[in-house]
Amino acid sequence: MSKKNLFSQPVADLIKNRYSCRSFDGRGLEPDILAALEKFPAALELPFKNSVRFGIIDNERVRAENIFSGGSYGLIKGVRYYVSALVKKDAPHCWEDIGFGLETFVLYATSLDLGSCWIGGVFDRKHFGRDLGILEAEMLPAVVAVGRQAGRRSLRDRLVRWSAKGDMRKDPAAIFFNHDWRTPFLYADFPQWASVLENVRLGPSASNKQPWRIIMKDNNFHFFLNRDKAYSAMMPNVDLQRIDLGIAMCHFQLAAQELGLPGEWRSGEPVLPGTPANFEYIVSFVIK
Ligand SMILES: Cc1cc2nc3c(=O)[nH]c(=O)nc-3n(C[C@H](O)[C@H](O)[C@H](O)COP(=O)(O)O)c2cc1C
Repeated sequence: MSKKNLFSQPVADLIKNRYSCRSFDGRGLEPDILAALEKFPAALELPFKNSVRFGIIDNERVRAENIFSGGSYGLIKGVRYYVSALVKKDAPHCWEDIGFGLETFVLYATSLDLGSCWIGGVFDRKHFGRDLGILEAEMLPAVVAVGRQAGRRSLRDRLVRWSAKGDMRKDPAAIFFNHDWRTPFLYADFPQWASVLENVRLGPSASNKQPWRIIMKDNNFHFFLNRDKAYSAMMPNVDLQRIDLGIAMCHFQLAAQELGLPGEWRSGEPVLPGTPANFEYIVSFVIK
């Protein structure tokens, strides 16, 4: 795990301040900000070591070249730039690495006082992919809209936020466990790790489904995915819920790093009686 401090502000503040912005000011970004965004991925180390190609999409350029390009189909107002990452199709754990990498980017954008919104559902995959120079063996799972927030949220923004219950999060006792699946992880018992887990809980997830389940056992944290099968079936080519898991890993690692709690990612499913059949083991954070 990289020891480098990537941001100029505390990660916990960035995580608290971030939200899905769907109303931008329509003015694009200054060249120095664009240059900073372009330089950023050089510092990134991904947990599963996939090589991903980051890029910035200028929707004005895409529209000039393809008059029929849909951009983000009017869902996001006033945005010109999108950040994305291309990854090799079917590479092991590519979804989690995309989630981890793009979310680090989101937090970096937050540190530059920019708004952002993950888009994994409907966007112009074809023309955005072409703009990034996508290869036959690569895929473009999601993009992140990035820009300056508008002074006022659009009506559509408020409606989408309300329908996804964007400000709500599940109770910690429903998603974090201690030793077995019947015992909730109590924040008061482990204050430092509680703060790490709280930073996971505040993270974004597709349709705010919060599919991450984390259990602490023998001082390690094991990450599981509580998959919503119907949701996954709706988008068979893009595993948004494993991207969510990568985002959770990103918040966990950065928050632990900030608190000086060292550890590393390893694979090794623990023996846990009564694991619900729909829980999929992903990875463990092993404390050093
Ligand atoms: C992988 C992923 C895909 C998402 N796709 C979309 C999308 O297509 N459209 C959209 O408006 N929001 C999308 N979101 C944003 C979520 O709806 C949002 O994170 C969630 O409702 C929580 O709200 P918050 O980010 O403001 O905390 C996505 C989020 C993630 C993590």
